[in-house]
Amino acid sequence: MRAIFCADEKWGIGKDNGLLFSLPKDMKFFRETTKGKVVVMGRKTLESFPGGQPLKGRVNIVLSSQEAKEGTVGAKSLDELFALLKTYPEDEVFVIGGESVYNALLPYCSEVYVTKVAADGKADTFVPNLDEEEAFVLAAEGEPVEDNGYTLRFCTYKNSAPKPF
Ligand SMILES: NC(=O)c1ccc[n+]([C@@H]2O[C@H](COP(=O)([O-])OP(=O)(O)OC[C@H]3O[C@@H](n4cnc5c(N)ncnc54)[C@H](OP(=O)(O)O)[C@@H]3O)[C@@H](O)[C@H]2O)c1
Repeated sequence: MRAIFCADEKWGIGKDNGLLFSLPKDMKFFRETTKGKVVVMGRKTLESFPGGQPLKGRVNIVLSSQEAKEGTVGAKSLDELFALLKTYPEDEVFVIGGESVYNALLPYCSEVYVTKVAADGKADTFVPNLDEEEAFVLAAEGEPVEDNGYTLRFCTYKNSAPKPF
């Protein structure tokens, strides 16, 4: 299982249940990386999408205590999620947020794709600083890329000891 997110220089990922920046190149990277795959998200992240609709061309698994929305597969607990995930190849599964879901699932991810934005987006939701997490190692760091007035780097972290599930 892998995770993907875009974070600012303080490891902030969101504000007012939306993204911090509008970044076409990062959106393209996200689309291409997760196309045809299984994406795992929290209920608030689903609600943050246009019209609250699931992402097309992907299996949308949504963690929530509520009933699953049409076009999504619901999981009411991590145990239920892990049972569901056993039915998909592990390398096809991407954790796509938000804060509560990254916090819960990053320890289980073998690899994390982080788009780092050199700016402070004044976030209200954050992910753990992977540079301070003992298990995570920065495996690849891309050259700076300009996107809508911001400077990005596409980075990959590897987890040296992903938790089994
Ligand atoms: N920068 C990025 O790459 C990125 C990516 C994704 C999201 N985001 C941002 O992240 C923010 C949202 O994060 P968030 O933490 O507030 O919300 P979230 O993680 O998207 O959703 C939280 C909800 O998910 C459900 N949930 C979480 N863990 C669960 C569990 N173990 N069992 C059952 N249900 C569970 C609960 O839904 P119920 O209340 O229905 O029970 C909970 O209220 C937004 O600003 C969004 O834009 C950023």
